[in-house]
Amino acid sequence: LKFVCYSNDCVDEHMMCLVGLKNIFARQLPNMPKEYIVRLLMDRKHKSVMVLRRNLVVGGITYRPYHSQKFGEIAFCAITADEQVKGYGTRLMNHLKQHARDVDGLTHFLTYADNNAVGYFVKQGFTKEIYLEKDVWHGFIKDYDGGLLMECKIDPKLPYTD
Ligand code: ACO
Repeated sequence: LKFVCYSNDCVDEHMMCLVGLKNIFARQLPNMPKEYIVRLLMDRKHKSVMVLRRNLVVGGITYRPYHSQKFGEIAFCAITADEQVKGYGTRLMNHLKQHARDVDGLTHFLTYADNNAVGYFVKQGFTKEIYLEKDVWHGFIKDYDGGLLMECKIDPKLPYTD
């Protein structure tokens, strides 16, 4: 199992991974228009942390770091159907937290969680209460109905990965 973080930088290997992740999102997030998935995945302000097994992408999380605000917005998160409930989603989130803290300097994540994924996000330390001051994130993240806004504080010291 390998964890990587790539964005659209025209490196062939990275682009192949992003296309693989796009296909997983398209299938696992049927309510999201495909063009919207592609737009954010390929947007250079977004990054994708991915889990690879035998060099194939089996899942990932696409997020946008707002460096000045020290928070990241998770846009999409999914694991391919036949690899779900094996713990990959948890390990993926831990790699995301470590990367976001150590590379981007972030302290929090926000996301609009689909109703059926709220349980997963709660297990990853997300809360329905938003403790961040509204002026920190208001106007930065888009309002989106059909999802519940959730927050996660990244521990400043905890080693999230081994
Ligand atoms: N509801 C409640 N609990 C869940 C769910 C869920 N949908 N999915 C996983 N869990 C639980 C697991 O039972 C497990 O609990 P445990 O630690 O007590 O055993 C824990 O969360 C972690 O499970 P993992 O195996 O690490 O999770 P998995 O690899 O299956 O990944 C994910 C979870 C990403 C939600 C995956 O099931 C998936 O891709 N689902 C379909 C797409 C989806 O709903 N994505 C999120 C949409 S919201 C957004 O993208 C912002």
